[in-house]
Amino acid sequence: MANSDLTDFYRIQLSNDEFNKLSSFIYKESGIRLPPVKKVMLQCRLQKRLRELNLRSFKEYCDYLFSKDGVDSEIIHMLDVVSTNKTDFFREPTHFDFLNATVLPEFYQSSRGKQFKVWSAGCSSGEEPYTLSIVLSEFAEKNPGFDFSIWATDISTRILQAAANAVYKMDRVEVVPLSLKKKYMLKSKDQVNPTVKMGPNIRNKVRFGRLNFMDDHYSISETFDVVFCRNVLIYFDRETQERVINKLCTKLKPGGYLILGHSESILNMKLPLKQIKPTIYIRI
Ligand SMILES: C[S@@+](CC[C@H](N)C(=O)[O-])C[C@H]1O[C@@H](n2cnc3c(N)ncnc32)[C@H](O)[C@@H]1O
Repeated sequence: MANSDLTDFYRIQLSNDEFNKLSSFIYKESGIRLPPVKKVMLQCRLQKRLRELNLRSFKEYCDYLFSKDGVDSEIIHMLDVVSTNKTDFFREPTHFDFLNATVLPEFYQSSRGKQFKVWSAGCSSGEEPYTLSIVLSEFAEKNPGFDFSIWATDISTRILQAAANAVYKMDRVEVVPLSLKKKYMLKSKDQVNPTVKMGPNIRNKVRFGRLNFMDDHYSISETFDVVFCRNVLIYFDRETQERVINKLCTKLKPGGYLILGHSESILNMKLPLKQIKPTIYIRI
């Protein structure tokens, strides 16, 4: 791109009208609410996409997005751009303590021979399902015959690719105890930009797939012993949250657990759930 083009590119502004159109579309497709204060964020994040498409204004982008050809092919890129993917290994560790102290011993006692199934719903770049895979592998080592599988889904194809790749910068795994890193992660030989890759025994237990919480029915045929749906609902309004959780409950076994993020509340919603601890619910 020539310098003058670059200057033009940085001048591309999103009008209020275009912002309203795009944010209504995003809400309808993903449930993510973008209030007017997010206009500059959306403008900045979409500029890269305009450049990739060789478009010179947001009007051209809206014309493309809302055209017959655009709507199916562009929507995935659009949602990649707007989703917030902040996550960490062992994020909100009390949930993993609860698995170890209550859920896993309970399952091991009552369901010997069955596979323990977990869904990481809104898994972002993989830190949550891989943490689960590590915690469950540790339990399996001490409890013969225990077997498990993990489904991990997200709306963003870009983030799912990163998750399946399973490579992380060294600082991302600082929080993981050294003994677990040594046991379950492979260190790169690159001295300048050191990374780790999840080991095959950790990766093999996790299956990734794209799933949009706005879909009418969730295309997963299994039901789960535990569903982690953490730090996702905060982006939805209350009505959408209630609809999504009701659909998640159809994928939970009776007596199975739903685990939400620490800032998420489902107080006074009509749901087939009983709260047993802050952010932890049991399917009734
Ligand atoms: C902040 S991350 C949370 C990741 C992880 N659960 C955690 O707590 O660390 C939220 C994730 O939800 C995903 N998400 C947002 N809207 C979604 C939707 N409608 N359907 C499925 N996933 C969605 C985003 O792409 C993002 O990766």
